[in-house]
Amino acid sequence: MQNGKVTVKVPASTANLGPGFDTLGMAFQLYTTISFEAADETIIRLHGSQLEGIATDKTNLIYKVAADLFEQAGLSVPELIIDIDSDVPLTRGLGSSASAIVGALVAANELAGKPFTTDELFSMATAREGHPDNVGASLFGGIIVALMDEDDVPYVRLPVPEHLGALVVIPDFMLSTSKSRDVLPSMYSRHDVVHTSSHTGVLVAALATGQLGLLKSAMKDVLHQPYRVPLVPGLEAIIEDATKYGALGAALSGAGPTIIALVDQRNSTAKLEAFMVNALAEQGIACTVMNLIPDTQGVQVEACLSGVTR
Ligand code: HSE
Repeated sequence: MQNGKVTVKVPASTANLGPGFDTLGMAFQLYTTISFEAADETIIRLHGSQLEGIATDKTNLIYKVAADLFEQAGLSVPELIIDIDSDVPLTRGLGSSASAIVGALVAANELAGKPFTTDELFSMATAREGHPDNVGASLFGGIIVALMDEDDVPYVRLPVPEHLGALVVIPDFMLSTSKSRDVLPSMYSRHDVVHTSSHTGVLVAALATGQLGLLKSAMKDVLHQPYRVPLVPGLEAIIEDATKYGALGAALSGAGPTIIALVDQRNSTAKLEAFMVNALAEQGIACTVMNLIPDTQGVQVEACLSGVTR
């Protein structure tokens, strides 16, 4: 059972979409591919240009998550040859760590003979990440709305509205999630709580019913973005004015520093792109731009056992 080889392809994701803090996630066709093969000795090989600095010993996150799954299944932890290839920029707010956790859990679960259900893997991934938004999107694809209950992670997976796409600007610096969470207050006024619940409610309903004209208002946020503005120069201007250049709405992607504008894929994004790149350039920040298409499949498994694809 643990002698085979398995390869999984995991989508990147954005989280929050404005007010849906730790609640909303959406997957993108931007992938991390992870292969596990049982071996005599653990070897971790990194491919592509995005993985610089990642540990290649047993402190590697993917190895640790896999080892924990085998232990939780009551199995001995195998030595593994692990190949990781990723197009997802690290520590930028596009769910790279969530992709790694989801990929490790799903690949290890396959090698272990599937002791855990997908929903159990979701709970394990959420416990590891601390919030369900990115891991839910990477696991299930599409748009995920989830909450953390005492020992459960109830969720709803929404289909992606037709023609919805995203333009992201990825600043040329890293921002750790913990640094970006440390700036948030621990108490909020009733005004901010009501603002957040009403905007999140309308945002989810708008996405569920494809009423994309509501995103401009519904993506407004007072819970986390205003506190993160000092960490991401240019964010305030982009959130304020992106809709004037054709965005349906704009937000910080996850904990940042990537900024996401939701767009109608049928329209040109040239003016919006110029505006967003310039808003960062005015603050002295270079960036990479990506047009992203939502992923609707979630993690995909390609398992090869004894040379037999199943
Ligand atoms: N919801 C999280 C945050 C996403 O905004 O801090 C971080 O991955």
